Parts: sequence; structure tokens; C-alpha cells
Amino acid sequence: MLRRGRFGRPMDAMASEYTSSMQVDVRLFSPVVQINAAHTVMLAERKIISPQDAAAILRALCDLHAKGIKALELRPELEDIHMAVEEFVVATTSEEVGGKLHTAKSRNDQVAAAIRVALRLEILEIRAALLELVGSLTALAEKNVSTVMPGYTHLQIAQPTTFAHHLAAHAWAFIRDLERLELVYVQANSSPMGACALAGTSFPVDPIRVARLLGFKRLSENTMDAVGSRDFALHTMAALAILMSDLSRLAEELVLWSSAEFDTIEMPDEFSSTSSIMPQKKNPVVAEIARAKAGRVGGALLAALTVMKALPQSYSLDLQELTPMLWDAVDQTKSSVRIMSRAIGAIKPKVENMRRRAEESFAVATELADTLVRDAGLAFRDAHSVVGRMVASATEAGKSPKDLSFEDLQSACREVLNRDIQLSEVKFRPALNLERCVEARALPGAPAPKAMRAQINLLKREMKIRKKLVRAEKRAILKAEEKLLKLARRMSR
Ligand code: ARG
Repeated sequence: MLRRGRFGRPMDAMASEYTSSMQVDVRLFSPVVQINAAHTVMLAERKIISPQDAAAILRALCDLHAKGIKALELRPELEDIHMAVEEFVVATTSEEVGGKLHTAKSRNDQVAAAIRVALRLEILEIRAALLELVGSLTALAEKNVSTVMPGYTHLQIAQPTTFAHHLAAHAWAFIRDLERLELVYVQANSSPMGACALAGTSFPVDPIRVARLLGFKRLSENTMDAVGSRDFALHTMAALAILMSDLSRLAEELVLWSSAEFDTIEMPDEFSSTSSIMPQKKNPVVAEIARAKAGRVGGALLAALTVMKALPQSYSLDLQELTPMLWDAVDQTKSSVRIMSRAIGAIKPKVENMRRRAEESFAVATELADTLVRDAGLAFRDAHSVVGRMVASATEAGKSPKDLSFEDLQSACREVLNRDIQLSEVKFRPALNLERCVEARALPGAPAPKAMRAQINLLKREMKIRKKLVRAEKRAILKAEEKLLKLARRMSR
């Protein structure tokens, strides 16, 4: 269809296979049909084509919409889905009529629009999945506001905290991922139609009308930028890569926690596999795959950045090669978030083990040093040294925190500061109490159960607002789709 003017011979079969995007374009089928319909409606309204021609074209497009992609012949020599759809319209109307469909548009603005249309829904789905994940984390946190566990820095036991506090730390990262995706959505939701190949058109088109019919919120400001930019895709992939790195950190902790060394969660059978040789094995495979997918999504971002980084304006076929990277990042992220949300909903925390790990460690050391500051009048640095010395001696003697006595503290103080400590013994024991230590950390954001409940309420509020936004955006898109279909049907009569 395209070559009969310019060329005398068909394209080399291997070359057309190599340069065709047909296979990847399958997921653009529906957006491309919609865009063609919106464009045709506008062409008729602006009297660029006759109502009769528009009706015939819209009839063909409605027919294609009803039949689905199986009605198309996806031959690579057609190059892409845009040509396959046009070929269908020409075949079901005539060359004379169907040949008018591509008036005042180009595959360049059309593909940019189609990717955006397809991407909008994907972003909304990922946002919905993320909200489920935050919901799972929050629900588990809610049950564990009093579940004491060790908090870590450098993966060394640091201070006592709660399982709720730890889970909520992940939840907030996902809330920020949601915020990023909301911004990504706004940027992607802008229409390039009307840009044509790069410089717009001299036909009196109405790009605002086309944008509205497609549910876009805005127009691209520059026709060259409209066809030549994919930063909305890079932005999406960057947000997804960050999200996957956040998800991978959670996955890594599930792997650690379910190990015999930590043994603080039970990964249910449904999310584990065993070994083909070692009959005792229970492997946290879902978490492992999610952890690895983060590398894949980050890799897609890097590959896409590399495609884009030195492309001259405006459209080059290099851009076609970027699209599958976007979909891969989208698909991998979507499935990872969904499965991890189910895994979080299913894990069984081993609360006694969490508590025991905290008890057996010197997690309360900071609180003891703080007590020496508050109640014995020591400078923090001195208190730090005294408690540090006490821990060193205890470790050397093979003592655990519960074996520590007031005398141990006294002798550490004598060693370090050359004097006795001015602390009543009754202040010593409570300083080593895990619950007290957690409860004393009651500022907003900290693990004290009361503060944690407030934080959980904040998380719930965030979820509620963001769920509403996803629903509203989805409704707007589906409404536009429905309206367009109705209009196309009416005009095709
Ligand atoms: N298949 C192309 C893509 O996916 C569509 C635009 C092709 N434009 C062109 N001038 N060959 O980007």
C-alpha cells in the first residue's frame, strides 16, 4: 500500500521482518482503532471529508472494533498496526474512500497518541495494584502495633521497634511511588494528534476535538516535540524502576525473614517451592523473582535512556524500539506488585521469635545511655562510652542483656569515667525493658503503639484519597471511550 509510489520492488523479507513493529503493536490495536475513529469524526466535522465517506470509514472501524484484532492480517510487510488497520478500512470500503482515512495524520502522531492511550490504563492498573499492596501492608501493620522486633542499621540489630513500624516504612515508600505515578499520568495524558509527521498540517483540523474524544486532558504544545518525544515513557519507566527497587527491598526482607537465621516470618506453602534434591527445602521463590524483576525494569529504563539520549529531532524509527521496553517494564512491575501484595497478605509473622531476637540483643543500649543522660546527669558522649564498655564486657563474658546487673553498669562507669554512677538502681531495670523503650518513642512517625496507630490512620487517608483519584481517572477514560464509540456508530448510519 505504501510502496507502490516510491519503490519499484518490495522490501527484502528479512529487512521487513527486522524493521516491523507488528508483533509488539498488538497491544496498540484498540487505541489505534479509537484514534482513527476520533480522527475521522473530526475530519467530517471540519468538512475535510464528506459525511458519506466518514460514515463508510466509521462503519469499517466499528466493524473492526467488534471483530477485534483477529480480523487483521498482521503481515510484517505491512510494517505496523497502523498500516494493518488502514488496510482493513480500505479493504472493507474502497481505495477511494478508505484512502481518505490518513488525511491530515501521520503514523508519527498516531503512534505517540496510541502509546499514551494504552499507557494511561496501564498506569492506572499499576496504581490500583500499589494501593492493594499498601492495603496489605497496612492491614498487617494494624495487627502488629505491639509486636516488638529488633530494628536494624547496617543489618546489625540497632534499637527495638515494632513489626508495624517496619511494615509501614515500606508502605510510605509505596505511597511516594504512587505520587510519582500520578505525576507520570498527568504528563502522559496529553494528545499529540494534529502534529502529523512533525510540522502539523495545512488542513483545518481540530486537535482539541480529537484530544477530547480520546479523553486527553491537554494538547502537546509543539508538533515536533509531540512526535519526537518519549520522555513520558522514560518518566514512566523511571517511576517503575524506583517502585521496583522499593519492592525489591521488601522482597529481600521476606527472603531474610523466612531464613532459618532470622526465622521471623512463615512464608505460606502457596508462595514457596521446594528443591528437586533437598526434600526439606522451602524456598521463598515469589520474593526472589520480584527481587530480580527490579533488575529487569531498571535495565529497561537504562536501555530506553540509551535509545533516546542522542536522537535528533523529531521522529526516528529508533523510537519504535523503545516501546517494547516500556511494555516490559509495565508488565513486570504490574505482576510483581500484584503477587507481592498477595504474599504480604499471606505471611505469618513469628512474633515470639521477633521478640526473642530483640531480647537477646543489646537493642536497648541507646535507651540505657539516654537514661544515664536524663537521670544520672551524664553528657551523652560519656553515657555512650559507659554503655559501650558495659556491652563490650558483657559480650566478652558471654552475657546476654537479661544477665546484666546494675553492678556491670557501675564497673563500666568506673573504668571509663573513673567514678561511680549517680543513678538509683530502680531506674536501671526499666531502661532495659523493650516495651518501655518502644513506648517512649512516641513522636509522630515513631514506633510507640499510639503514634503507630496515628500513622496507620494517615496511611489509610492517603489510600482513600489516591483510590478516589484512580477511580475518577479511570471513569473519565472509559466515559470518553464509550462516548466516542456511540458517536462513531451514530455517524456511521
Ligand atoms: N511503527 C512505528 C512505531 O512504532 C510507527 C511510526 C512509524 N513511522 C514511520 N515514519 N515509519 O514507532
